[in-house]
Amino acid sequence: MSKLRMGFIGVGGIAQSRHIPAYLSMPEKVEIVAVQDLNQARAEEAAAKFNIPQVYGDYHDLFKVVDAVTICTPNKFHAEISIAALEAGVHVFCEKPMAITVAECERMLEASDKAGKLLSIAYHYRFMEASRVAKLAMEDIGDPLVTRVQALRRRKVPGWGVFTNKDLQGGGSLIDWGCHFLDLSLWLLDGPKPVEVMGSTYNRLSKTPDQLNDWGAFNHETFDVDDHVSAYIRFEDGSSMIFECSWAANIKEDTTHVSISGVDGGVNVFPLEIHQPKYGTFMTNAVTIEEDSAQVGLLQAQNFVESCLGEAELICKPQETLKVTQIIEAIYSSSETASSIKFS
Ligand SMILES: NC(=O)c1ccc[n+]([C@@H]2O[C@H](COP(=O)([O-])OP(=O)(O)OC[C@H]3O[C@@H](n4cnc5c(N)ncnc54)[C@H](O)[C@@H]3O)[C@@H](O)[C@H]2O)c1
Repeated sequence: MSKLRMGFIGVGGIAQSRHIPAYLSMPEKVEIVAVQDLNQARAEEAAAKFNIPQVYGDYHDLFKVVDAVTICTPNKFHAEISIAALEAGVHVFCEKPMAITVAECERMLEASDKAGKLLSIAYHYRFMEASRVAKLAMEDIGDPLVTRVQALRRRKVPGWGVFTNKDLQGGGSLIDWGCHFLDLSLWLLDGPKPVEVMGSTYNRLSKTPDQLNDWGAFNHETFDVDDHVSAYIRFEDGSSMIFECSWAANIKEDTTHVSISGVDGGVNVFPLEIHQPKYGTFMTNAVTIEEDSAQVGLLQAQNFVESCLGEAELICKPQETLKVTQIIEAIYSSSETASSIKFS
């Protein structure tokens, strides 16, 4: 196969802003041949806008004319559509999170193994320059001890789309945004096995009327997802993670912090800094990186397309992203039961 035939299921915000432009910028390797969306008018608009030749009403028909699909539907449909595509012999690139539940993720993995087709998830933080350098720097910090994550937005509950719909998304700030930071941290740490998770979720602020919100309006009465989450995660290798994420924190400004303290040094990802005792003193190597979001999307698309063509190895493997969902599910469950969740 010299050129990959790509199809799209769901052509809303993220498909049009990130994935379609990324594939269109590598025409020598991939061609978008077909789209499908529950909203037929949107599918037709997207096809016209991006010059995509075929529009399908049923994704099973689309699978017959593609080698791979990119799935950009709400989270509820990730598993069902991925499995249908894999069973039809089509490689799958699915938006994050992999799925809402671990059971769904396991079925997706099984379908991928059975079909011998690739499955990857759009955890694009791995493709940021700061993340890629931090991954290399992990060698210098020795065995990891403590990981700290703070992904906090000051009063930015998404007031559009389906982000606050529990049935369609499975949750709020954690499953939507915190998932990126869990994935990035686990990837940097080389995927340690979680053994115990304790978490608390909140939505009291967003359930209160007349809240100030920078990202549009939402209905506080129907709001039924988390807007703030804290968790403590212990791993089999003895290391631990202190995790917090929020769409609606009462803080001075937005914060995205990921840092790992190891035995021989420490790494901070945003901004990128490497801390080490050296030459009898404490040294910090720091670099300012301006992330280019189009480039991040392109690197992610390139890795998937080249992996499908047999020219590269997947950077974001489904066995790894299943662990993200395992931790998310455990945090929700720990909060609900007010007890820690242990994995055998
Ligand atoms: N990687 C990121 O940073 C990032 C950013 C935004 C969204 N996302 C993820 O992308 C996915 C889509 O988000 P979005 O912002 O593009 O949403 P959106 O609402 O803008 O678009 C979703 C599209 O899917 C269509 N759709 C819904 N159910 C469908 C079904 N069963 N079959 C076919 N089409 C269906 C809708 O009609 C809509 O056009 C979500 O899983 C979200 O978590 C990821």
